[in-house]
Amino acid sequence: MLLSITKYGNPVLRAVSAPVEHVDDAIKALASNMIETMYAANGIGLAAPQVGENLRLVVIDIPEDEEEGAEPEMATINGELRPIRDIMPLVFINPVIEPYGKEYLFTEGCLSVHNIRANVSRPEFVKATLPQLDGSVLEIDCGGLLARCLQHECDHLNGFLFTDRVSSAAKITLAKKLKKLAQQG
Ligand code: NI
Repeated sequence: MLLSITKYGNPVLRAVSAPVEHVDDAIKALASNMIETMYAANGIGLAAPQVGENLRLVVIDIPEDEEEGAEPEMATINGELRPIRDIMPLVFINPVIEPYGKEYLFTEGCLSVHNIRANVSRPEFVKATLPQLDGSVLEIDCGGLLARCLQHECDHLNGFLFTDRVSSAAKITLAKKLKKLAQQG
């Protein structure tokens, strides 16, 4: 079932989300609907507040680089170096992430922030503990797009948007557009 995506200006995007205490059928259905909604919107990640639920639940699917000769994106997954495609789509609750390494700028966008893309500086790598719906836990050490996406999605769980993390000059440039978005709801 497709869910409606909450837009910039909705207070649900600014709240700190609660941990998922118990994985029941409602949580499983929510996760599966979030994956469907993310695919329909051509996104690579979606956090529960973006569908109106202040819960610490995230779905991610990073597509493979289809360019010829492109190396698959790799990560250390439970101690083993593997292509990240092995764990896509990725669904997790109550994540703990530890970003590390040098920060770099990368252009981000967000399904809740229509028509705005901006450069955001974040650390290159992430160590993450990602509890799964079946009770198992994924321990990931990654870089690349997955590290970027994990930081962006986990920000959503704490009420932050990528537009909060742009340079102060970019904030001034974006202010008008964001105001308009907030008014549109
Ligand atoms: Ni987002």
